[in-house]
Amino acid sequence: MKKTIAILTAGGDCPGINAVIRAVAKTAINDHGMDVVGIEDGFLGLIEGRWRQLGYEDVSDIITRGGTILGTSNKSDPFGFVVDGDVEHPERVDVSDTVIKNFERIGASSLIAIGGDGTLSISEKLRGKGLPVIGIPKTIDNDVSCTDYTFGFDSAVATATEAIDKIHTTAQSHHRVMIIEVMGRYVGWLALCSGTAGGGDVILIPEIPYDIGIVCNRLVERGKRGKRFTIVVVSEGAKESGGELVVKKVVKDSHDRLRLGGIAEVLAAEVEKRTGLETRVTVLGHLQRGGTPTAFDRVLATRFGREAATLACQSSTGVMVALKCGDIVTVPIKDAVAELKKVPRDHHLIATAESVGMSFGV
Ligand code: F6P
Repeated sequence: MKKTIAILTAGGDCPGINAVIRAVAKTAINDHGMDVVGIEDGFLGLIEGRWRQLGYEDVSDIITRGGTILGTSNKSDPFGFVVDGDVEHPERVDVSDTVIKNFERIGASSLIAIGGDGTLSISEKLRGKGLPVIGIPKTIDNDVSCTDYTFGFDSAVATATEAIDKIHTTAQSHHRVMIIEVMGRYVGWLALCSGTAGGGDVILIPEIPYDIGIVCNRLVERGKRGKRFTIVVVSEGAKESGGELVVKKVVKDSHDRLRLGGIAEVLAAEVEKRTGLETRVTVLGHLQRGGTPTAFDRVLATRFGREAATLACQSSTGVMVALKCGDIVTVPIKDAVAELKKVPRDHHLIATAESVGMSFGV
């Protein structure tokens, strides 16, 4: 009997999602003769019963397109679906049985869930209720364990690097300290890689709480060496040693309720107060999630998608596709979501950045 697979994209979007959808659907149709159903807006579509058939033409010509043709949502945890209340007291209900029933209505033998740690954690819980699921790791944060890279990360690094390059020239002209805030939630991969690629002078990441005195000394010291500008790249999740995360807002109906943001402004005020150096802030924000995927992400997305469709044909469940030392492998989803993949203090790139004169503020 002809198999059907269902795909959903959940959590924050990023470049490369459409490339994955295309690869899953084309492999399923071409190699395995399966039917493909796309669920709309992530788990919300499974809660509300919204999906559509995906034919070959629907996934044609989308490899370069940013966003997701299926839509997404980072507010629809079926195990704690917010139905009422306010930010402080959201009223949550467990609608996971509805998700299971709707999945049965589709008649699919597998669900391919494309998402970050939130989506993958929900997928693992649904697997515990009998839903056959395969995960594909997606996020600009690169914080999913058991894979060297998530797709979307390389594109976000490219966007952030291009922005840093542009800020570099105006920093030179005006002899200013320029602070660029990048995303990444609780991990510093995006700041570390874009800061290194963009030739930043100071990189501040969540894994290495910084000393504001050391940061300011570095800026003043550069001035004494004749360098009249400084580029500081700061992760939204960075914080001063002994300090707190800077939270922009709390959202009531998300899996992860904190939205970080604002550390660059806090830092700029402190730098100006302590050093008198003219300082400006640029927050890159959602720019980092948009646009065309890089060639690396298109290839990774295509490899991930092809592997996931093949696993679905073999009726595998509870596994995530991953990149390990250049190879596509499969790992248990539960291992991938056990902890966030943070930047290890002894990572080669940290030592490398230090060797070329960058400071982590410690
Ligand atoms: O996880 C991806 C991400 O872009 C993070 O880097 C950022 O903290 C968060 O999502 C922003 O979420 P939202 O789109 O809900 O503002």
